Amino acid sequence: MPSFVTDVEEIRKRAAQKIEDGAVTDTYQGDVEQTISILNDALATEIVCVLRYMHHYFMATGVHAMAVRDEFKEHADAEREHADKIAERIQQLGGKPDFNPASLVQRSASQYAEGKSLSDMIKEDLIAERIVIEVYQQMIRHFADHDPTTRVMIEGILSDEEEHASDLSDLLFITDPRSGETEGEDPGTHPLDMRSDERSRQQRGAQQSKARENTGASKGNNKNRKKHAA
Ligand SMILES: [Fe+2]
Ligand SMILES: [Fe+2]
Repeated sequence: MPSFVTDVEEIRKRAAQKIEDGAVTDTYQGDVEQTISILNDALATEIVCVLRYMHHYFMATGVHAMAVRDEFKEHADAEREHADKIAERIQQLGGKPDFNPASLVQRSASQYAEGKSLSDMIKEDLIAERIVIEVYQQMIRHFADHDPTTRVMIEGILSDEEEHASDLSDLLFITDPRSGETEGEDPGTHPLDMRSDERSRQQRGAQQSKARENTGASKGNNKNRKKHAA
């Protein structure tokens, strides 16, 4: 017997009592009812995430849609697995997983937002993931050592949510490159150069007109420059 177990006889006695409580022993340091309530809110959050991702999966259209909708489906499946894990833990703790659709949105931390365009959908999903990340971080701090099993489960889910947020951030940049711009960025190094602001267009237009005007006169010079550059 490990040396840190000080009174094994007492532990054996306690374990034989209240066996109907299953996994919940007297040494559970959390508040079981509160844990079940917190987990039921997390369950509602995950279900709303499944519904939102599935809506986006079926509604994604446009040039980037095929790649993005696969990602939506992958995330929906992951959120469904999260919901299963949370429901299972609620049942282990002696509670009832609350799947009541009437109160889902009120209990969910994340919102059910449809979004009109593909980049709107990605933005809504990214916001939802960021909300969930913050809520789960708070839960982890709350459970701490009082309920290590629930804490470890939420830690695993949090890791998935952070991955989702990172994936969505990349997708948002592909579908809407302006989302990745930072102040002072050199426009010449922009990977897809899809800026549409009036100033950029005017600058490009002026440069093109100037180039056309000089084409005839500088043809020979251009050839020389190309040779030189090669
Ligand atoms: Fe999730
Ligand atoms: Fe997620």
